[in-house]
Amino acid sequence: MKKFNHQIGVGGLVLSDYEKQLANEVLDSNHLTYGPMTKRFEQEFAKSHKVKHALFMNSGTSALHVALAALKDRHGWSDGDEIIVPAVTFVATANIVLHNNMTPVFVDVEPDTFNIDPQKIEEKITGRTRAIIPVHLLGLPATMQPVLEMAEKYRLEVIEDSAECMFAKYKGGSVGSMGVIGCFSTYLAHFIVTGVGGLATTNNSELAVDMRSLMNHGRDGIYLSATDDKGLNGQTLEEVVARRFSFIHVGHSMRCTELEAAIGVGQLAKSKKIIKRRQEIAATFTQGLEEFENRIQLPTCPPDRTHSFMLYGIVLKKESKRKLVNHLEHLNVETRDLLPLINQPIYKRLYGNLEDKYPVAKHINESGFYIGCHPYMNDEEVGFVIEAFKNFFQNN
Ligand SMILES: Cc1ncc(COP(=O)(O)O)c(C=O)c1O
Repeated sequence: MKKFNHQIGVGGLVLSDYEKQLANEVLDSNHLTYGPMTKRFEQEFAKSHKVKHALFMNSGTSALHVALAALKDRHGWSDGDEIIVPAVTFVATANIVLHNNMTPVFVDVEPDTFNIDPQKIEEKITGRTRAIIPVHLLGLPATMQPVLEMAEKYRLEVIEDSAECMFAKYKGGSVGSMGVIGCFSTYLAHFIVTGVGGLATTNNSELAVDMRSLMNHGRDGIYLSATDDKGLNGQTLEEVVARRFSFIHVGHSMRCTELEAAIGVGQLAKSKKIIKRRQEIAATFTQGLEEFENRIQLPTCPPDRTHSFMLYGIVLKKESKRKLVNHLEHLNVETRDLLPLINQPIYKRLYGNLEDKYPVAKHINESGFYIGCHPYMNDEEVGFVIEAFKNFFQNN
């Protein structure tokens, strides 16, 4: 089989005229830092996920970082306290626990959804457990109800890592609105793409102020952005002037610009189209690959939730993925390992060989990978990907 004439990537982007128009509006305004476009993006995103607040910042990792930092600070959690994370996820989920001087505790995942297995959480809870971070991997919401029940039973907080999932529903609830804080990413290959970017969502106004402060050097909530003193008069102006250089947290610089927000507003406007095309491509893949189900496990979506198909995950049932992945890559079909964490060199260095304690994660690490199903793929590319699989299974 001849390789495709260009790489069929896990992500893509074709900017629309509307997105370019919004970006040009920002350029014409000569205002690049936090301003009307970011506020608009935040409001529209919050509304679309049925939450009160959305904070746009420079990455999903930053959103997760300030989410945990805000909770740690507000509850007075100690260094070394434990945060439960799935054993299969992007490294950032666990990294931010370490960056907050806390301890990630891994829980194995469900073999069908690849998300945290709620049945395995309780055995990991100790007197120092403070929160659970379920991850909605590849666009599929985690099995949230038992996670939320467990959190309530043990008085734990829940931060949803929804970096890979937007607009999906679980039992009618929007991702990012079920835990106390939800975190999203708009980086390359994500559901919507703004270059770099992330959002933290919450219905808790105090936490929203804390997170806004933490992403802005720990500033006093009275002055969180460079325009917060504009148009003020009298006593209010004097109070803002007195407190605007006051820092109440050890904060970070995690801001984004109006340009990313402009792309975000434009992408949000076409979110229905994006989800439709993603689901259409995923259905075509499944239809084309079903005949090989004795060898590969294809994505599932339990009936109590919807799948936004940020990516299309595949796990080989009884063999290592290497040969198939190399075959696809040689044909110009891009792949990625399905979010290995506990076998990564840095996590092995920190915690030793954990894989035998996490059999599902171990199997996914050995045999799981994903391909793209993004809306910028055309039918020819989708058809080629299916043919590339067929070619492999017919010859191996
Ligand atoms: C599950 C998960 N969490 C967090 C992140 C971090 O997002 P970002 O790359 O925007 O920092 C990602 C990103 O790829 C992710 O897949």
